[in-house]
Amino acid sequence: MDQLFKKSFGMVAVSCIISCGTAQQKSKLEFNSNVFEKQEVTVNGAVLKIRAYENISYVADPVDTVYQKINVYIPEAYFEGEDINGYTAETAPIFFPNQVGGYMPAKPGTAINDGKGPGGGGPGGNRQTTIALALAQGYVVASPGARGRTTQNEQGSYTGKAPAAIVDLKAAVRYLKYNDRSMPGDASRIISNGTSAGGALSSLIGATGNNKDYEPYLLEIGAADATDDIFAVSAYCPITNLDHADMAYEWQFNGVNNYAKRGGGGPAGGGMPQQATVASLTDDQIRVSGQLKAMFPEYVNGLELKGKDGKLLQLDESGNGNFRDLVKSYVIASAQKAMDAGTDLSGLSWIKTGNGKITDLDFDAYVRYMERMKTPPAFDALDLSSAENQLFGDGATDKKHFTAFSQQNTLANGVLTDMQIVDRMNPMDYIGKAGTTISQHWRIRHGTKDKDTGLAISVMLATLLENKGYDVSLELPWDKPHSGDYDLNELFEWIDTLCKK
Ligand code: DHB
Repeated sequence: MDQLFKKSFGMVAVSCIISCGTAQQKSKLEFNSNVFEKQEVTVNGAVLKIRAYENISYVADPVDTVYQKINVYIPEAYFEGEDINGYTAETAPIFFPNQVGGYMPAKPGTAINDGKGPGGGGPGGNRQTTIALALAQGYVVASPGARGRTTQNEQGSYTGKAPAAIVDLKAAVRYLKYNDRSMPGDASRIISNGTSAGGALSSLIGATGNNKDYEPYLLEIGAADATDDIFAVSAYCPITNLDHADMAYEWQFNGVNNYAKRGGGGPAGGGMPQQATVASLTDDQIRVSGQLKAMFPEYVNGLELKGKDGKLLQLDESGNGNFRDLVKSYVIASAQKAMDAGTDLSGLSWIKTGNGKITDLDFDAYVRYMERMKTPPAFDALDLSSAENQLFGDGATDKKHFTAFSQQNTLANGVLTDMQIVDRMNPMDYIGKAGTTISQHWRIRHGTKDKDTGLAISVMLATLLENKGYDVSLELPWDKPHSGDYDLNELFEWIDTLCKK
């Protein structure tokens, strides 16, 4: 009897912990449509009335009170039974732009210009934001903040090291899905957007939907009880596949020994112009470049990617082969599109043309034209000086290595991070894996003048997705440097085509 009492009492206690906890979480994570500020944004001369729900905590147990927040913006029209661009309160897609740059912590984006809109703010600061333009298109916009590589708590522990940012973005997605019924917008049509580190995270949300690897982290911060797969991914110049990005960079830039370096892994666009350091690689760096370049073919070959002709994409020991031809074909397609649009390419002797068509392109000359920006290793720096070294630190250690190569060659007594965490930051490790709901639709853009990471990074990501049957659009916009949101009309057209099918 006594035994039975203890047992059932124990069960009651346990079930109270679970149900009380759930009830508490429920009330904390319930979207309250009555608490908003009225705002107006002017888009192409027209005033759009919106409701702004700002700085909502998207987790029940935040470890950070600044960044684990989301701003939700909803056109007023959707509260008045009207439609915009063919969308209604029920059918409007949810545009999900993150503001992450340089793997730094990021606050949620705002509809009214905060200097982060296309082209940045600058004096006058009245440029239209990506968010305002998306609202005018009829989207509900939910912009998540996320912890980043420098985030610390009051005790001085780091709380934003990998995989914190992706965990936060997933929690934000769960919040939107959890509240789908009480919020205008269709949470089965979430389209993530981001640039650079933000593009990497955008890709990672799309590639890792509902994967259980992230579950313990999500539980810890009290993420809403919902799924976190999304409908579509938009990624500009994703700085991703970090554990293979050093070799990809040297495969592309080996032999280009002068460089112009921007200050340490800074975010693209916005802010003050950064002073570039112009210098030549040292003999040691040139040696490291050769070693890294030599490691790339084995990695690419191991992916067993296939080209459109069904043939395996391969590289030989010297780095030549049909994978290189594929990368080159994307550059040629870009040049062709630019030429068709009237861009004069006649000054570029390394592009061969005939009858208005590009007949060939000297890839090595193109790489010299784009110029090297980073020194080898471009990401896992031997002296731990990169943004990514800081990303892969832990609660107590600010900076770590994340490749065996750099750890073995460290110049700073650097230690190797837990490689499982490196995997959790790499979309390549999840595409095609069981237990993952991968986004069906992908739009990846990486400018042909963007040397923050190698072109192979986006090409490998897009090809793997294509090979696994996903819908992928990859283009390398001509002469675009490291940047994003420069073709929003085309991005929105892509979204509308998908959502209005
Ligand atoms: C960004 C740029 C980099 O060169 C890098 O290494 C990481 C992030 C960025 O602009 O977000």
